[in-house]
Amino acid sequence: MEKLEMLYEGKAKKVYKTNNDKQYIVDYKDDATAFNGVKKGTIIGKGVVNNKMSAALFSLLEENGIPTHQIELLSDRESLVKAVTILPLEVIVRNVSAGSLAQRLGIEEGIPMKETVLEFSYKNDDLGDPMINDYHIFAMEFATREQLDLVKKYALKVNEILSKFFLERNIKLIDFKLEFGLYDGQVILADEISPDTCRLWDAETNKKLDKDRFRRDMGGVEEVYQEVLNRISKK
Ligand code: TMP
Repeated sequence: MEKLEMLYEGKAKKVYKTNNDKQYIVDYKDDATAFNGVKKGTIIGKGVVNNKMSAALFSLLEENGIPTHQIELLSDRESLVKAVTILPLEVIVRNVSAGSLAQRLGIEEGIPMKETVLEFSYKNDDLGDPMINDYHIFAMEFATREQLDLVKKYALKVNEILSKFFLERNIKLIDFKLEFGLYDGQVILADEISPDTCRLWDAETNKKLDKDRFRRDMGGVEEVYQEVLNRISKK
């Protein structure tokens, strides 16, 4: 398999074509942004952590019946993935109040949700990924009813699997963002699952082990990325 020209460069990853038109190579960068690219920086080693962590979590999810884009880890920063067409949706799952939910509802961070909360945003940087609901999704044809039903089902199942997995490593899964794509007409999980896209708190101390340390200038950013990778690599 050969790495060909770059197809797309995002804020945290580059995507390359390969000589197989059904496969892409994702190359994870150390670049970090927040607030829709307004804040920029570097988190040394982040690309390696996010690549390895996503590969491990996608394997775990596959073993538990969730179809994902992951094919194989190629190197520290690269993975071979299925060439999906991404649905223009950010799917957010929340177990505990934090971030924009806490702000929007005027509540403190750290309050367990009585029911799992699912939110959708329209994936569009120029618009700042506005929140949308099912009606917008169907009216704008971002996904069909069948596709959205699967997205919801998979997102809730991913939450169950990952919440348990992290808790066994003394980490609470507060919230996270998923993206799905179409591959041979089927909905599969794509993008990444990492401290960039999850809020992860130490189960005993509530120490933040995720990108909020970068967003909020809390320091110790590199250390917690390594810490999360260490905790999920053990056992
Ligand atoms: P939020 O509270 O800022 O809406 O974020 C919810 C979750 O989604 C959190 O785990 C971080 C993740 N997220 C992303 O992965 N990408 C984004 O662009 C944003 C805003 C949040």
